[in-house]
Amino acid sequence: MNSVIVGIGGALPKKCVTNFELPADLDTSDEWISTRTGIKQRHIAENETTASLASEAAKKALEQAKISASEVDLIIVGTVTGDYTFPSVATIVQKNLGSKGVAFDVSAACSGFVYALSIADSFIKTGKAKCALVIGAETFSRIVDWKDRSSCVLFGDGAGAIVLRAEKNTDCGVKYCKISSDGAYADYLITSGGVSTTQTSGFVKMQGREVFKFAVEKFYDSVNELLRENNMTLDDVDLIVPHQANSRIIKKLTEMLGIDENKVLVTIDKHANTSAASIPLALNEVRDTIFSKKNIVLLSMGAGFTWGAALIKLR
Ligand code: UT7
Repeated sequence: MNSVIVGIGGALPKKCVTNFELPADLDTSDEWISTRTGIKQRHIAENETTASLASEAAKKALEQAKISASEVDLIIVGTVTGDYTFPSVATIVQKNLGSKGVAFDVSAACSGFVYALSIADSFIKTGKAKCALVIGAETFSRIVDWKDRSSCVLFGDGAGAIVLRAEKNTDCGVKYCKISSDGAYADYLITSGGVSTTQTSGFVKMQGREVFKFAVEKFYDSVNELLRENNMTLDDVDLIVPHQANSRIIKKLTEMLGIDENKVLVTIDKHANTSAASIPLALNEVRDTIFSKKNIVLLSMGAGFTWGAALIKLR
C-alpha cells in the first residue's frame, strides 16, 4: 500500500503586514528584515484561528483531490498554537468537515507537518487508514512578544494541507520519511511559559545563531542520508521544499549541495516563518504545477530540536 498525494490546499489570514507596516516603535527596518531573513511580509490572524485556517486549507485540498469529507478517516494536524489546550485542532477540523475516524494533533513545532506526514504514512501503510488529511497550521502571531523585534518580525500565520490516499499497484507516494529529535537542545528554541508552568502560553524565545547553524547542518545531512538510502543522486530530485525559516539558511543549503536555486522552493518572502504550516503552504503556492514534477524532498527543523526529511514521488 502506498500513500499518494492527491490534493493540496492552503489558507492565509486576510490581513497582510509588510515590513514597512510593522509597528513604528519596534526599532526595525525593511532593510534589516529583508537582508537577514528574506521576509517581506506576513499574514496575521484577526478573526481567524488555527482551526479555522486548518479547516479552510483542508477543504481546498479535498476540492483539488475531488474527494468528499466523508471519505477522510484520519486527520493529523501539526501545530503548537491550538485554539484551546484541548480539544485538539484536528478534532475541530473533523467537526467542521463532518468527517469520522480518528483525529489528533502532533507537537513538533516547525517539524510538525513532516512528523504528521510520517505518522499518516504509517497508518496508511499498515492498513489503519485509507484517506488522510495531513495539515500544518499555526497562529504564531499570538505567541510572539510584539515588543521583541528579534522574534516578532520573523513569524506569520497560516495553514496548509495535503490529502493522502491509500493506493495499491503504484510506485508513487511517500517513498521515505524519517523524523528525529534531540532533546539536549530543548532550551534553544522555547516559549517563556506554558500551561503547566506559568498557566500562560508564553512567548517565543530563540537562540537564533545556534538554531541557524543546526538547521543548515541537519538539512544538509538529511538530504544526503535520504539520497543514500534511496540510491538516488541530486539529479533525480526535481524539487526541494525546505522549512521556511530564513532565506539565508536555504541559500547556504543550496550552495552546499551545489544545485541550481530553481530546484529549491522559497516562499518565506510572502509568508514569513509559519512553523508547521510552512512546508504545506509552500506546496500550496505551486499546487497547480507541482504534479508535473516527479520526486520532491521535504525538509524540516524546529524546536526540540526536531527535524525530518521526506521523499515523495508524485504522479
Ligand atoms: O523555525 C524554526 C527554526 N528557526 C530558525 O531556523 C531561525 C534561525 N535563526 C535565524 O534565522 C537568525 O539567527 C535570525 C534571523 C533569528 C537572527 O539573524 P542574525 O543574523 O543571527 O542576527 P543576530 O541575532 O545575531 O542579531 C544581529 C543584530 C543584533 O544587534 P547587535 O547586537 O549586533 O547590535 C540585534 O539586536 O541585529 C539586531 N536585530 C535587529 N535589528 C533590526 C535583531 N533583530 C532585529 C530586527 N531589526 N528585527
